[in-house]
Amino acid sequence: MGQRIFTSARCEFMSAQKAALVAPGPVPLPEAVRLAMAGQLIHHRTPAFEAIMREVGQGLGWLYQTQQDVLVLTGSGSTGMEAALVNFARSDAPVVCVGGGKFALRWAEVARAYGVEVVLLEVPWGQAASPEALGELLEAHPNTAAVTITANETSTGVHHPIEALCAVVRERSEALLLVDGITAVGVQDLGMDALGIDALVTGSQKVYAVPPGLAFVGVSERAWSRLGDLPRYGLDLARERARQCDGQTAFSPAISLIFGLQAALRLLREEGLEALWGRHARCAQATRAGVAALGLELFSAAPCNAVTAVRVPDGLDGVALATRCLELGAVIAGGQSHLKGKILRIGHLGSHRRADVIHALSTLELALESMGHPVAFGKGVGAALARFSAS
Ligand SMILES: Cc1ncc(COP(=O)(O)O)c(C=O)c1O
Repeated sequence: MGQRIFTSARCEFMSAQKAALVAPGPVPLPEAVRLAMAGQLIHHRTPAFEAIMREVGQGLGWLYQTQQDVLVLTGSGSTGMEAALVNFARSDAPVVCVGGGKFALRWAEVARAYGVEVVLLEVPWGQAASPEALGELLEAHPNTAAVTITANETSTGVHHPIEALCAVVRERSEALLLVDGITAVGVQDLGMDALGIDALVTGSQKVYAVPPGLAFVGVSERAWSRLGDLPRYGLDLARERARQCDGQTAFSPAISLIFGLQAALRLLREEGLEALWGRHARCAQATRAGVAALGLELFSAAPCNAVTAVRVPDGLDGVALATRCLELGAVIAGGQSHLKGKILRIGHLGSHRRADVIHALSTLELALESMGHPVAFGKGVGAALARFSAS
């Protein structure tokens, strides 16, 4: 029975040649973003491009809730992290990295690649970081140049207590505060200025719903006055700032992606910050209700509103389950590093809406059933709809 459903659904998917993107990025592109990117190029050393960059800069400032510059870099989100690190860390002082997942540890990998000493705050994957433990570590390392925090850890679905973590850094240290907001800015209220963040990083394929390829780094005045001594060239943010003040970029930018970004930011502004955060919260709550109704367990002890990480039921191979979902028409992400095969990650980011949640859950139901896991069809979907209806 399960096999029959699987085969016919697979045929359907194969003919469509595409599966819905319900992973935590990249996400489906709104039509306005696609159309904006489809047009003829303009040259970037022109007033027309400068006008776009100025509009985009204002839009990014709005999303970041900051009066500071938010720079646009060509590269993925990790490029933004590397830029923040290489400009604001130092060769003669440690960086404290708050751990707890693959992306949190990326900060440490970048720092080590530049020869910077790393002091790691160990956090079990799936748990939220403790502000008290961070405060103690900072007191033990008073010469820390920078602290790195990942607001929402996409590899585990954890929401760290970002306000309390930022507050402890501000209160107990002089270190610069570098935050990966790649799956947090736009998902929840995360005001760069209000939290005293010195460098806040995001990437185009998440909340913005633009293809991968642009990174954004908001930088505080404090950080500009404390540029570090690490060698850099392509990621020299001071050079970028000097050009971006005039609507330019230091090097040839990803022009088409910036067209898409302009359209994306207009859509986000039309929706409004509170509505955007509310939509993410509703999709996350409905997803959590759906997986719970299917008898599945969340991986995260403190789930975030960007991605729901679900434990794969005992006896099932998580890699095969993610592949089955793909064959059935939904890209649901698997686990990373030691969590490979053990969890699935359903995204609710940027362009995701109720229909995406329902699609992800119904595909999961079919996939589980086709692999022999008992499923009462519609239970997960029904619980999600009930949650939407209640909100
Ligand atoms: C929280 C977080 N940080 C960093 C990254 C890395 O971004 P990219 O793959 O764009 O380099 C991701 C990507 O999923 C992420 O979710």
